[in-house]
Amino acid sequence: ISLRPYNTFAIDVKAAFFVEIFNEVDLKTLFENEITKNQKLLIIGGGSNVLFTEDYNGLVIKISIKGIESEVDGNDIKVTAGAGVVWNDFVNYCVAHNFAGVENLSLIPGTVGASPIQNIGAYGVELKDVFESCTAFEIKTGEIKTFSYNDCHFGYRESIFKGLLKGQFIITTVTFSLKAEADVNTSYGAIEIELQKRGIKNPGIADVSAAVSHIRVSKLPDPSTIGNAGSFFKNPVIEKFEFADVVAKHPDVVHYATADDRIKLAAGWLIEQCGWKGKVEGQTGTWKNQALVLVNHGSASGKEVYDFSELIIDSVKSAFGVTLEREVNIL
Ligand code: FAD
Ligand code: EPU
Repeated sequence: ISLRPYNTFAIDVKAAFFVEIFNEVDLKTLFENEITKNQKLLIIGGGSNVLFTEDYNGLVIKISIKGIESEVDGNDIKVTAGAGVVWNDFVNYCVAHNFAGVENLSLIPGTVGASPIQNIGAYGVELKDVFESCTAFEIKTGEIKTFSYNDCHFGYRESIFKGLLKGQFIITTVTFSLKAEADVNTSYGAIEIELQKRGIKNPGIADVSAAVSHIRVSKLPDPSTIGNAGSFFKNPVIEKFEFADVVAKHPDVVHYATADDRIKLAAGWLIEQCGWKGKVEGQTGTWKNQALVLVNHGSASGKEVYDFSELIIDSVKSAFGVTLEREVNIL
């Protein structure tokens, strides 16, 4: 089957086998089958953080386990959602119920089940800030295991599921720790500006959600009309002594201090400085409003996008001495 409808980059590759899973029982049944056990496996949710560079010669399992349940205990709210719940539907559910904590993560594409994989983050909040636990199906044993916050080893766009345990677990539910009394986070400059424009002085979570959604729409291409997977690269984190070299040559370099006393550079800025912003190369290129986002102008192949990303890496390396790492999962 064609995977084009199942990846937001809209890359037209084929999967040898494809199955959609709606509950844990079916997942167990699937893995009791010898045919499944001998296949190369790929788990997908919304396909919004993958780039297919070739046909997938194995079984693609799309996780569509639904359901949202909540438990309120005074100010503490625990919400458990199925891995296949669309992330933004989950955010909207929380905002509508006045459950605070995920409003800054409005409009991120993809599913709840993928949210811990790269510890999704935006506008001053990361998944880890609201993560309580998750359950996951262990492929090797067929058992469902629970992962606590400490088990997950979250970092910037990192978790144990991308690292040590890569390919071993299928997340089935995620439980979030939210609050009834909102302590809204408007630390990200762009949110502050957007709220001011709207004349909102004491924002609630619905205001923050609306402001973030508005900012995102103005900067990021909508995958339903132009294929992309959000930021293609991570923002590089470098040591202070390395930063000293960069800033000496480029005093206006956009940068932030990290909690562990290193320096994070804005990859979009680095790429723009190298002249790539809005560049069109055949069917691919960078987005006109955000150089960190690579796009498919219609019929790009994954290989074409990948090769283009190599040019950007080389160019940023020679201009700044900094090596960009891809955020998108290359397949
Ligand atoms: P997929 O792309 O389907 O999968 C991603 C990875 O997770 C794959 O390795 C896959 O094997 C694995 N996986 C998926 N589901 C499961 C599961 N249930 N169990 C085990 N493994 C699984 N990300 C951010 O962090 N912040 C942003 O602001 C942001 N903005 C974006 C904007 C746009 C326009 C787009 C297109 C993407 C953006 N992203 C952003 C990236 C993307 O939305 C997130 O990475 C999201 O979590 C991916 O979810 P998904 O369900 O589409 O995952
Ligand atoms: N910038 C430029 N030129 C560009 C793009 C950005 O100069 O073409 C500058 C901006 O002016 C700003 C800085 O770079 O000073 C940061 O830009 P922005 O606020 O757009 O955020 P980002 O660092 O490019 C990160 C995440 C996004 C997330 C936003 C908001 C990564 C890799 N990306 O982007 O996440 O939505 O912050 O928090 O960390 C994603 O992971 O897919 C994603 C979209």
